[in-house]
Amino acid sequence: MRSFVEASKEIAREAGSLLLRYFERRVGYELKGEADLITEADRASERLVVDRLRSYFPGHAIVAEEGTGQGGDSEYRWYVDPLDGTTNFAHGFPMFNVTLALEHAGRLVAGVVYDPLRDEMFSAELGGGAYLNNRRIHVSSTDRLEVSLLATGFPSWKRHRNINVHFFHQAAMASHGVRRAGSAALDLAYVACGRLDGYWEFGLNPWDMAAGLLLVTEAGGRVSDMRGGPALLTGPHIVADNGRIHDELLALFEDVFAGRYRVPLPAL
Ligand code: IPD
Ligand code: CA
Ligand code: CA
Repeated sequence: MRSFVEASKEIAREAGSLLLRYFERRVGYELKGEADLITEADRASERLVVDRLRSYFPGHAIVAEEGTGQGGDSEYRWYVDPLDGTTNFAHGFPMFNVTLALEHAGRLVAGVVYDPLRDEMFSAELGGGAYLNNRRIHVSSTDRLEVSLLATGFPSWKRHRNINVHFFHQAAMASHGVRRAGSAALDLAYVACGRLDGYWEFGLNPWDMAAGLLLVTEAGGRVSDMRGGPALLTGPHIVADNGRIHDELLALFEDVFAGRYRVPLPAL
């Protein structure tokens, strides 16, 4: 039998080429909630991924974003985001991916993030390192926040309650800049391969980050929540970085949580 990671790569590649076909013909979207988009491509990709997982690994539990997964008391649980970056996708902005990850007895053991536009397959296995298209990847060696490149995101769900704009401003002032590309799984994959030095976000779902968190740790990086606690798939926020800027980032976030702005917002 194929290894979990090999099966994941095969499935993600197939789902990725399906997404590409939809992307090229620009599909319309519906709303799941205020500013929370879904397209035909999200549904078709999820159908494909869930069907494949069911046939390769009958009995495994599957948690999939659009709700077609399956429960069960298996020790194995898959997390599936059939299209991460739907808002980008629906607007023709070229930044999206399909991602899946496997948890065994509470530990992430395999994960992939596939970007079909660039044909980039990020993959990791617990204890086996992280890869980009079969080449081993590592986090960056940037050791000061001041010269780092960061990323974050703003979930569409309950966006009026999202306090991230405060963190965004302070982090942008403390670094070379903060990117907001609209695809959490790729943000994490980019930390793993050193294109970004760090990333944080509030309110992610497990399927957005499961593969990416494994990629970052297997690439030698560090993950936690924004207050320095454990990085939980069900936690309120997450930080993932190259390890070297982790303490500086946490210290910055501690100040923002406490309302201590290092750089005040400019007056209008
Ligand atoms: C979203 C993207 C986005 C992030 C949101 C996610 P979706 O996933 O990853 O970058 O900021 O938090 O919900 O809805 O496109 O799968
Ligand atoms: Ca997502
Ligand atoms: Ca999605």
